[in-house]
Amino acid sequence: MPGKKFYITTPIYYVNDQPHIGHAYTTIAADVVARYKRQRGHDVFFLTGVDEHGQKVQEAAKKRNVPPKQHCDELCVRFKDLWRALHISNDYFIRTTDEAHKDAVRSALQKLHDKGEIYKGSYEGWYCLPDERFWMEKDLVDGNCPECGRKVEHIKEYNYFFKMGSRKDWLVEHIRSHPDFIQPESRRNEVLGFLLSKDLGDLCISRPKERLAWGIPLPFDEGYVTYVWFDALLNYASGVGYPSDEKQFRTRWPASFHLVGKDILTTHSVYWSTMLEALGLPLPESIFAHGWWTINGRKMSKSLQNVVEPNQLVDEFGAEPIRYFLLREVPFGLDGDFSRHALIGRINSDLANNLGNLFSRALQMIMKFSGGEVPAPGAAGEGDAELKSIAGGIVEGLNAQYQVLAFSKILASIWHLVDFSNKYIVVNEPWSLAKSDEKRARLNTVLYNVAESLRITAVLIYPFMPQTAGRMLDQLGLKTDASGVDPGSLKEWGGLPSGLKVNLGDALFPRIDEKRAKKILAGAEPAALPDQATEEKDRITIEDFMKVDLRAGVIREAERIEKSKKLLKLKVDIGSETRQVCAGIAESYAPEDLLGKKIILVANLQPAKLMGIESQGMVLAASAGDRIILAGFNGGEVGPGWKVK
Ligand code: MSP
Repeated sequence: MPGKKFYITTPIYYVNDQPHIGHAYTTIAADVVARYKRQRGHDVFFLTGVDEHGQKVQEAAKKRNVPPKQHCDELCVRFKDLWRALHISNDYFIRTTDEAHKDAVRSALQKLHDKGEIYKGSYEGWYCLPDERFWMEKDLVDGNCPECGRKVEHIKEYNYFFKMGSRKDWLVEHIRSHPDFIQPESRRNEVLGFLLSKDLGDLCISRPKERLAWGIPLPFDEGYVTYVWFDALLNYASGVGYPSDEKQFRTRWPASFHLVGKDILTTHSVYWSTMLEALGLPLPESIFAHGWWTINGRKMSKSLQNVVEPNQLVDEFGAEPIRYFLLREVPFGLDGDFSRHALIGRINSDLANNLGNLFSRALQMIMKFSGGEVPAPGAAGEGDAELKSIAGGIVEGLNAQYQVLAFSKILASIWHLVDFSNKYIVVNEPWSLAKSDEKRARLNTVLYNVAESLRITAVLIYPFMPQTAGRMLDQLGLKTDASGVDPGSLKEWGGLPSGLKVNLGDALFPRIDEKRAKKILAGAEPAALPDQATEEKDRITIEDFMKVDLRAGVIREAERIEKSKKLLKLKVDIGSETRQVCAGIAESYAPEDLLGKKIILVANLQPAKLMGIESQGMVLAASAGDRIILAGFNGGEVGPGWKVK
């Protein structure tokens, strides 16, 4: 019997340029969820594709001196190839130039027109060509587009409008009564704030043909083409059969998750929701807006020549480390900073060192001490229960974590199991146990438990790194495919059969040595420009510096400060006491990710009030552009209150 249906989408990407890391990010995230849900036995449909109409694409084709359709045919291949290279498992790839999609758009338009939901009116306003959006005079910032800052043109013309404005109260009520409809919560509040702060106008859904030819003609007036967003949003319905294949559409719709970047949340939560309501269709269960990547602290842009091309990254590092890095480095929903330097750091420490070494070490020990076969475990001993309970705890919390797309936390918890398994080997010293026959039973148990922990790890990392998971199971001697193992089955410790013949393969993740790292970094994205270092005349003496009382602290509590985008209120344990500190790090850290983090506190600052809240000290952090990284300690067991100098 097919499992519960699950339908997930990515935005459809404009084919005006090469795919970049932002596109890869959403698509990888959607792929991870789709793979997880398939493992859980859900009947998954995963849709991605390309947005091919509109001004941007028309201009890009013109620049290349090719007809728009030819341009789209050529560029869409680049996206398809990239998804293959990144191991994306989409069930369908939609193009808005597909006949079925165009028919769906025309059918939806006709239906709304017949229902009186679309009317013709005159329009006068400011138009942003690159964003393809009209703005009111009051919205402009210094006379420019409030969204992208570029020049706007004054335009007066007749157009068709969709009655969006009258649906405002209904939409507010829907968002309020469906807490998961817009995630994360901060974005939900933003949308509510936007809706409540101003009137919602009707949506202009047409463009006169003489101004824009590259679009789907309106079925009721051939002098106009459809506004690209009205066309594009309907892909989520046409991609699952709307309206011609009613049976498929009825089984798939509504979508479980639309994943989008924060910049296109309004179009999804406001335009799309009201369009669906007018068409008499149910709303998606959840729209999740993720943050943006900066590159070494700077906005990614062509003019800065820092656009990160995923194809190049795949060539340099392979697909799986990139999939891992993007979802591990930054909580989904927050902005993050990309650098090859950080990527190499994660590959060497998390992948090559922690997981890769554990795996090859475990296999080598099974080879050496157990004739290459997974032994049958004996009675449980010291540390075994903890190992099992760590694994069990991860499995227990998995569904809830996936429901809020907490990828980074999921990976951190899996790596906790990896780290504990490494410790378990060190504590149990299989090499010593192997020296005496009496300890054979214990040796078998230890080797078995490590191998079982690695099987569990492989199944858990499968959605993120499917090929690595496959290699791990294969080397453990299992013939099963990780995609077919329900993570729920991992709750029971001991699923790994004993007697399996393991095989040593190549290292899972080769370490990037200094020479290669240097070579990669030499050709990498330009580094952020730090502020100029202190000039000679401003230098201080060591005595001046020693006046600053720097202490190691542990964050025990963290919460947002109402009405402040930047500030978090922290409770920092510095051994002798707990300090309340306001830190301007809310745009880079989620409060829940800070708990237990070790930081450096300036402990002898005069207290100050920020947003009416007393701050008793200052937390040290590095910053470049909008990105802030807390200063901390590089390994070692530093206790709260230790002096830093
Ligand atoms: N075609 C529209 C979407 C229509 S969906 C019905 C579109 N396309 S896009 O190609 O411009 O952008 C697609 C996605 O890329 C958006 O979700 C956007 O947030 C994301 N990103 C663009 N730059 C990004 C970063 N620097 N970082 C992360 N994601 C970014 O908008």
